[in-house]
Order: sequence, then structure tokens, then C-alpha cells
Amino acid sequence: MKLVRLFGAAVLLAAVACGQRPSQNTSEAVPAYLDPSKTVEERVEDALARMTTREKVAMTHAQSKFSSPGVPRLGIPEVWCTDGPHGIRTEVLWDEWEQAGWTSDSCTAFPALTALAASWDPSLAELYGISIGEEARYRKKDVLLGPGVNIYRSPLNGRNFEYMGEDPFLSSRMVVPYVQGVQRNNVAACVKHYALNNQETNRFTTDVAIDDRSLYEIYLPAFKAAVQEGGAWAIMGSYNLYKGQWNCHNQYLLNDILKGEWGFDGVVISDWGGVHDTDQAITNGLDMEFGSWTDGLTMGKTNAYDSYFLADPYLERIADGRAGTEELDAKARRILRLIFRTSMNPEHKTGKFTSPEHYAAARKIGAEGIVLLKNDGGLLPVKGAKRILVTGENAVKMMTVGGGSSSLKAQHEISPLDGIREAFPDAEVIYERGYIGDASGAYNGVTTGQDLSDSRSYEQLIADAVAAARTADIVIYIGGLNKSPHQDAESNDRLEYGLPYGQDAVIEALAAANPKLVVVNISGNAVAMPWIDRVPAVVQDWYLGSEAGHSLADVLSGAVNPSGKLPFTFPVALGDGPLRSEVQYPGVPAGKTMAGMPIMHEEYSEGLYVGYRWFDSQKIAPLFPFGHGLSYTTFAYGEPKVSKTSVTASGTVTVSVPVTNSGSVAGAEVVQFYVSDPEASVDRPVKELKGFSKVWLEPGETKTVSVELDRSALSFFDAAKHEWVAEPGRFDVLVGSSSSDIRGTVSFDLK
Ligand code: BGC
Repeated sequence: MKLVRLFGAAVLLAAVACGQRPSQNTSEAVPAYLDPSKTVEERVEDALARMTTREKVAMTHAQSKFSSPGVPRLGIPEVWCTDGPHGIRTEVLWDEWEQAGWTSDSCTAFPALTALAASWDPSLAELYGISIGEEARYRKKDVLLGPGVNIYRSPLNGRNFEYMGEDPFLSSRMVVPYVQGVQRNNVAACVKHYALNNQETNRFTTDVAIDDRSLYEIYLPAFKAAVQEGGAWAIMGSYNLYKGQWNCHNQYLLNDILKGEWGFDGVVISDWGGVHDTDQAITNGLDMEFGSWTDGLTMGKTNAYDSYFLADPYLERIADGRAGTEELDAKARRILRLIFRTSMNPEHKTGKFTSPEHYAAARKIGAEGIVLLKNDGGLLPVKGAKRILVTGENAVKMMTVGGGSSSLKAQHEISPLDGIREAFPDAEVIYERGYIGDASGAYNGVTTGQDLSDSRSYEQLIADAVAAARTADIVIYIGGLNKSPHQDAESNDRLEYGLPYGQDAVIEALAAANPKLVVVNISGNAVAMPWIDRVPAVVQDWYLGSEAGHSLADVLSGAVNPSGKLPFTFPVALGDGPLRSEVQYPGVPAGKTMAGMPIMHEEYSEGLYVGYRWFDSQKIAPLFPFGHGLSYTTFAYGEPKVSKTSVTASGTVTVSVPVTNSGSVAGAEVVQFYVSDPEASVDRPVKELKGFSKVWLEPGETKTVSVELDRSALSFFDAAKHEWVAEPGRFDVLVGSSSSDIRGTVSFDLK
């Protein structure tokens, strides 16, 4: 059987390789592709010229769950990918999702990307990228599957915690240094999921309808910035469809926009199992196919990967003339470029794994991302408390395990309770569970090892927490969502906007028992807070990884003065937001594919009006606005100024504002600059973020914060002309501490 199969393969190989065998040049000392003094492009062309068709096709698809073959005959290594985006995933078996059982793959878990975005600090995004890139390099990974920059369109999206919020400008500024930091380690960042993948419900079958202007203004900018400014070496196509084509082989998104308009020279990698059609995979911009489920896997073929859309079916098409080799060369060129940029980069990097620096980075990013939502009467930081009640399941639940492909096996994870105990050595810190959420803790064979079982009834748990609250000087409730299905997790969306597991009643009971109540919400999404008027202090925490408890305790104790700002809007109720019909979310049935798969049709008819753009336009007050976040100090804003009152289209204008720390502790403020175009000939959002700067101030200190605005900050996308247009006339710049807390406005004219 085996011989016959091999013979058959050899015949096919001879047929497709005809005329492409490498020449035997014995006089060549070092082939150009191995010569580090040659440019990447010279090396690519030389290697390409030596490769057979079969070798090129082999490169375009996986050989295992996370790797693709190189060219063994030429000594060109395999490509190894890893999730991403919060730490380096454990090793799984060659062909299965089950654990490989390594004992040396427990990583540093970094904070979720929502936390990074909430820091509004691009230098921390660079630190994050460098650190995780070092971990990837140490583990010999060439491609990190992350970061994710899908726009936060609905608080129900289960994967929002892996993304950078609702605003295209904020996510663009944060993604660029992350990508650059990762790639400094000769590891490719694979920016995902391109594009319009804004929900998990029906993620494989949703065909998104959106107007060009909203696509270009809201959903594409972060990807474009990652590619053009960050120089990303890889991008991942998303599972969903756009204009009737799956996004892993989508002519419009991949060929026309990404490779055409943006000049992307890296590889397009499919999401795992996102490829559906060989002909489209050949022509519509895909370079590498991963994770396809094939009949081979169930029918026990020797190598199921030969059945991938870009494997034998591709070779057959080339052999019988249905496909040429032009697209194949283009794909191989990009893959070779990836290899010469990463594993065959002459600059030899070794990386670092679970180093003290990485833990310090995780702790700092985590603390800087925490957002103080409310702090009546200066309840925080915790001062002079002798008896502290910590309550709520998320105070003890390990959160690095779960949530889907970003799940990690962390070398350690400091729980909030442990962090608080360490930060208050002189206080008696007691713990009460308060509620039972999800006591399980496993993903793909990684288990937390925690036993969170509890036999008490719901009522008893509340009664016990309330009794303890009555005896405490301060109560710190730590709840929110978790990484279980239908919470913050891949594959499915949340089912409700409210807190799960009856937590609202627990919080109400605690508030009645002790007025000194701090609620810490751990989530990657906005949640309803019906008790907000009865709780004096509220902290938005995130999934902060290995150092979670330290970061939180740093803020609660005042060791770190909070400076995070929300990267998305918190609506009072879900219905206040822009998605108000089924066709907008979660989509409506719209027939079947040829393969019989049901397709869902979804219209992004809210257009540009996502997040604060919607709340501004409808004059609906959110619970907490985009950009909101308090500090333990206060900041006074002076008069904003412009460097000139009239500017030409090719010029720039500098907007500056003096900011003073008017309180008594040092702290940082994120100064936000929103542009408004009141004279526009088209409908434009009331204002849009076009600049921000985080400034550190000692008590009493004043610094002038400035940003430079150019034409791109003033433009809208004219779909008819297919270009960015800045119309002459007056522009206002609203300077503030959040999207709702505007402290001053200046204007200038565009000539
Ligand atoms: C996810 C990707 C991930 C890939 C590999 C997919 O299901 O959507 O984000 O990188 O799996 O684990």
C-alpha cells in the first residue's frame, strides 16, 4: 500500500516539477539564500529558484497543528506558530489539541489586551511586545498569533478581552509598538482577525454587509497601522465572510486592500479551519493554510494534511493545468521572506522565558491598565483598615486557564486575594466566597488544579459574606465575568449584559451591610451595574495574567496611583447601544453555501456609530464613557492652544494644553484630543479621538501636553472617490479627560 502511494506521489512530483529541478552548481561556495550578507529579497529569489513545485506547495499548508514544513533538502526550517496574544501557548501533540505533556512550557501570562489598551500608553505596548516576543523566541516560535485588533462593536462579543477596544485611533496607536516589539525578536506578529470578526456567535458563517466608509474609518485602521507603521510580517484572515467570500480567501480584503492598497509584503495565514475552497485559496490572497479539518483525519490517511485545500488538490490543479504557478511563486516568496526575517535571520536571538523582567512588565502593564471608575469620598486607596473582607469568586479563581485559544499554562498566577494579603501585612484579611460562579478550571487538558467546590447554598453564601462584611472595616468584592463559555470566551458570545451567577443581589446585600464597599469587576467587557448608586467605589480590573493579584493590590493600596482609562463605553443597558435589530446582531439566516452550510447575513447598519460615536450622536448618557478613569489625585486643565489658526492640507497644527496635578499625590493623566468637523458636507460623528498623551505629574506640577494633527486627523473616507478627504473649513479640537469630560475647545481653519 505504502509503496504504491509513494510511487504515485513520485509520478505526480515528476509531472508538476518538470523543468523546475534545481541546477547542481558545485562551484557555488555559499548559495545566496544562505549568505547573510545578501538582502532578504536576494535570498528569497535564490531559494525560490532552487525549489520544486511540490516543495513550494508543501510550504503553503500545515504539517501539524501549529507548524508548516520548510524545505528540508535546502536546509530551510519549518515555520512554527503559537498563540497568542497574552502568552506563549503550551505545546500540544503533533496532530491533536491535547497536551504534549511538556514540563518546560509554563509561560509568563501577560495582561489581556483590553488591559493594555486601557493603559493608553504606547510605551507599555512596546514593552509588552518585546517581552512576549522574547518568550516566543525562547520557545523557538517564528509566528506569534496576535495581537488582535477587532473593534469592540457589542459588549456581548466573547472575545473582546483579546482586542483593544472600540476606537480605531486608540487601537492603532497601541498595536504598532506591540508589533514592533515582538518583531524585534525575529518573531513575526500575526495581526488578527482580519477583518469584521466582531462576534463569536456564528463566527464561521456570518456574512457582513457594511458600507465602505465605515469599513475604512472604523474597522480597518488598526490593521492598516499594524501593516504600514508596525511593519507586521503576518496577518490572520478571519472566519467570517465579507461580500459573500470567506475572509481567509477574500479578493476584496486580501488582494485589493491588504496587498494592493496597503502594500503588505508579509504572509496571510488562515485562521485555524478558516479555508473552504481550493480555487479561492489559490487566487484570493491566502498564503498559508492551517487547522483545516479534513476527511483524512477521520478516515485514517497516512498524512491528513495532504488533503488540505492547498495540498494535493493544489498540486492536482497545477498538474492538469487548472492552476498556474504564478500565485504559487507569490505565496512561496512571502513564506520565504517570513523565514528569512525570523528563523533564518542572521541576527541570532535567543529570547528569554519567565524572566523577572517579564513578570515586572506584566505587573506594571496590569496596574497601569486598571481603571478607577468611581471613588466617592476617597474610599480608595485602602487606608488604616485593620480588618479587610475580600469576597467574591474572582478573588481566588485562576483566570489564565480558559477562554479559548488564548488560554495559558502559567508558571504562576497571583490571585487578587494573595496580592491583597501581601499588600496589607498588618491587616487581618478574611475571605468569603459570596457566590459560586464556575468552579471548573480546565482548557485543552490544562487544569488550574484549584478545588473551588463549595456545598453551601446561594442564600447561605450571601448570608456568610454579609455577616463577615458587618465585622470588617472595608469590604472588597471581586467578581465579574470569567473565561467560561458564554462569559469572556472564544466560540460563543455572552447571553446577557448583566453580571452572571446572581452577583447583583450579592453586591446589594453587601452594600446594605457595610457602606465601605469596593466593587472590583474583572472582565473583558462592559457589564450592567444596577447597584451603582449604592456602591461608593468601583474598579474595572481585567484578566491580568501571572501578576494579576499584585497589579490589583498595587492600585488598591495606593502603591500605584491608577491612571487607566476605559478603551470602550459602558452603557447603562445593552439596549442603549447601537445594535437594535436582529439583522445587526446576531444576524439572520440567508441561505446556504454550495456545501450546504447555512450562512447568516448581518448588516453593520449603525455605520460609523460604534461606541462613543453612537452615544454622542444620540445624546444618551452612558454609565461610564469611553476614556473615563479616575486617579487618587486631581488634574486641572488650562486653556488649550493651537500653534496656528489656519493650516494648509499639507501642513500640521500643534494643539497643546497645560495640565496641573492639583491634588496631593503624584499621578498620571491621559489627556485626550477629539476632533470635530462642524462644517462637514457629510454626516460625521460629533467628535473622534485623534490624539492622546499620558503625562506623569508630581503634586503641584504643571506640564504642557501637546499633539500634532495632520490631514489624516481631519479626513473622512469618501467612498465614491475611494479616497480620504479633508474638507476646508473650521475644525474644533475638544480636549478632555474622557470623551464626556471635555475641559476646553480650540479651533482652526483648514485652507
Ligand atoms: C482562533 C485564533 C487562534 C487559532 C489557533 C482559532 O480558533 O480564532 O485566534 O490563533 O485558533 O489556535
